[in-house]
Amino acid sequence: MQDLAGRTAFVTGGANGIGLGLVRALLAEGCKVALADIRQDAIDAALATLDNQDVIGVQLDVASRDGFAAAADRVEADLGPVSLVFNNAGVNLFQTIDDSSYDDWDWVLGVNLHGVVNGVMTFIPRMKARGGGGHIVNTASMAAFLCGPQPGIYNTAKFAVRGMSESLRYSLAPHGIGVSVLCPGLVKSHIFASDEVRPDELKAGAKAVDPASVGRLEQIHQVGMEPDVIAARVIEAVRANRFYIFSHPEFRDELREVFDDILDAFRDYPEDSAFQQRLAFEKMRRDGYRAARQAARGDG
Ligand code: NAI
Repeated sequence: MQDLAGRTAFVTGGANGIGLGLVRALLAEGCKVALADIRQDAIDAALATLDNQDVIGVQLDVASRDGFAAAADRVEADLGPVSLVFNNAGVNLFQTIDDSSYDDWDWVLGVNLHGVVNGVMTFIPRMKARGGGGHIVNTASMAAFLCGPQPGIYNTAKFAVRGMSESLRYSLAPHGIGVSVLCPGLVKSHIFASDEVRPDELKAGAKAVDPASVGRLEQIHQVGMEPDVIAARVIEAVRANRFYIFSHPEFRDELREVFDDILDAFRDYPEDSAFQQRLAFEKMRRDGYRAARQAARGDG
């Protein structure tokens, strides 16, 4: 998609961090933009910095299916059909899985995974029915590839967003709708304060927030990449219809190391009885997968 001007974009988690960077970049491209966020005060503060007629704020908890549909209706009534969707809202929780509660799962998966699912389920039928193409960018993370003990639930959600985005890319390519997955490393953002937006009904199973560890996280994020730098890389990738958006080049070698570890786990087992018969099926599947990747890139 070369020309973004005149299209309407919907950005979740738009009041801070990457989302706000995306809002600024999209406005600069000549888009009309809906800035969706759970925090009304942050929406108001963000809109005040933008001073632009082409952006509106919409309060939305992305974990709510009904809320998402209502927000989409409102935005489309005001700004016209949405054809650029940025499912970007996210929260983090640094705590091992064995130390976590169901409330922790419901919160982190509710925002980081179901928030993306809800964005997809809300807008895809509308975009398909209207034609005219479009693009969806789902924000995952390098945590969609690299695991640690602490962000266990976050890792689970981000791996799922990556898989969901790739599958979606192949089914939407025939409709002229591109899909990309954004995988940033450290970002200069407000994510260290995620506990502020945890819903009351999911707090019973939460551990007490440790201000010292929130402070440490805030310090670490100070050296994160500027959201405007990431947003420029996202816009370039949307134009090129590239699936993976690796904003942080410092991860390339580590990813190679991890992929090598994965490949090293294969073993030269002796052939089992059905091995040869399976090969024909796997060849057909593999050829189909390759063709789908090429077609989605537009070079199939
Ligand atoms: P941020 O905290 O600055 O911005 C996220 C925005 O999402 C906030 O304005 C927050 O109010 C909003 N939000 C939280 N829960 C919401 C909900 N239920 N519904 C609607 N809005 C909600 O954080 P940042 O870093 O800009 O995060 C954006 C995305 O980038 C997230 O998906 C995050 O997981 C991802 N990411 C962030 C990294 C980092 O180092 N900060 C690294 C890799 C990925």
